[in-house]
Amino acid sequence: MLKIEDTNPSSFALLLAASCHHDLFKGPPPPPTPFIFKSPDNFPPFFDPADNPTTLEGIALGRKLFYDPILSGDNTQACADCHRQENAFTDPRQFSIGIDGIAGKRNSMSLVNIAWQHRLFWDGRVHGLENQALRPIQDPVEMHESLENAVAELQARPDYTEMFWLAFGTETVDTSLIAKALSQFERTFISFNSKYDRWKLGQDSMTESELLGMEAFFENDRGGCAQCHSFGAIFSDFQFRNNGLDSLPTDLGRFAVTGALLETGAFKTSSMRNIEYTAPYMHDGRFATLEEVLEFYNTGFHLGPYTDHAMYNLVKGRLSETDKADIIAFLKTLSEPEFLTNAAFKKPE
Ligand code: HEC
Ligand code: HEC
Repeated sequence: MLKIEDTNPSSFALLLAASCHHDLFKGPPPPPTPFIFKSPDNFPPFFDPADNPTTLEGIALGRKLFYDPILSGDNTQACADCHRQENAFTDPRQFSIGIDGIAGKRNSMSLVNIAWQHRLFWDGRVHGLENQALRPIQDPVEMHESLENAVAELQARPDYTEMFWLAFGTETVDTSLIAKALSQFERTFISFNSKYDRWKLGQDSMTESELLGMEAFFENDRGGCAQCHSFGAIFSDFQFRNNGLDSLPTDLGRFAVTGALLETGAFKTSSMRNIEYTAPYMHDGRFATLEEVLEFYNTGFHLGPYTDHAMYNLVKGRLSETDKADIIAFLKTLSEPEFLTNAAFKKPE
């Protein structure tokens, strides 16, 4: 313990500097650099909220946080452990395991094109990324950490306080800034450069099978997929629907959020972009492959009182082996292999 009487002047000055707020000495940082993303013509405009504009400094901080187990109770688990870049930011395990060895009840979700999604989680119970980001930190079956601890640990790290200062003009760490930085990084997970996109622009060609699969995907009485999985180039409207997985859903899904009976067993309609990489499939990860998914939509679905009306348009057994293979071939044209290796999304050095 350092006592005032036995300090020499230089260590006293050091003590003073450490105990004072750095901002007083540093002045304001240079203004952060805006992240400018011009949506391709077939995409809606890039979305970031007015009170959290995306900047390069905010992204850099969010990226460091996303990969840092410091946000978990025992400093062993990061967001990236359940949202892996090589799986288009989801988890290849059916259920992720939190720091206490407990498995969750739902399959992790891909964060591809998350900037365009506002109701988050399978049941849409949270609105906006900023409101979502602190939940996994505190979730007892996930990172199981108190926000107080997380803030204190970051506050004690000069590398972090410097980055908070650059991104937000303050070295004082707080939970809302953690959430903002994580959200900024997540919003950069944009995928729009697949074979399908290049084909649309006349820069690539599709095989016969891919073209047939595309037709089936879009035709209501064939694949019938686009009734739900289509909203222009984003390939989902992210509405909540019951697609007939069970005759009696065990997970009530959206019903538990809204109390609307018709939303019993309804879950967020997934985008089809990079679907090749995000197995296993559905909210509970019950299907290991796209072949299993196609067989489900061909013969396995249940038509009950809560099943979405679009499922009633699908005649059981309508798809031949070739039809199913064609649809899968088309789905794979929505893959962007470069997304999985994009250096900007990797764990920072
Ligand atoms: C232990 C595994 C695990 C960890 C760690 C984890 N997540 Fe998740 N994440 C999930 C699961 C599972 C879901 C779906 C949960 C549900 O719907 O109830 C999810 C859903 C999400 C969603 C919603 C996506 C959508 O399409 O609606 C976002 C965003 C997200 N996580 C971000 C994060 C961030 C940021 C962190 C770190 C602070 C994080 N996650 C840490 C497993 C995890
Ligand atoms: C009635 C609307 C509807 C129709 C029609 C439909 N889907 Fe879905 N699909 C959904 C919903 C909702 C989910 C999420 C369900 C869940 O997880 O409980 C989903 C999930 C999926 C998934 C898993 C996504 C993931 O993130 O795990 C795939 C793959 C998929 N659908 C492909 C297709 C294909 C291919 C077709 C056409 C043969 C099709 N869907 C037809 C609504 C629909």
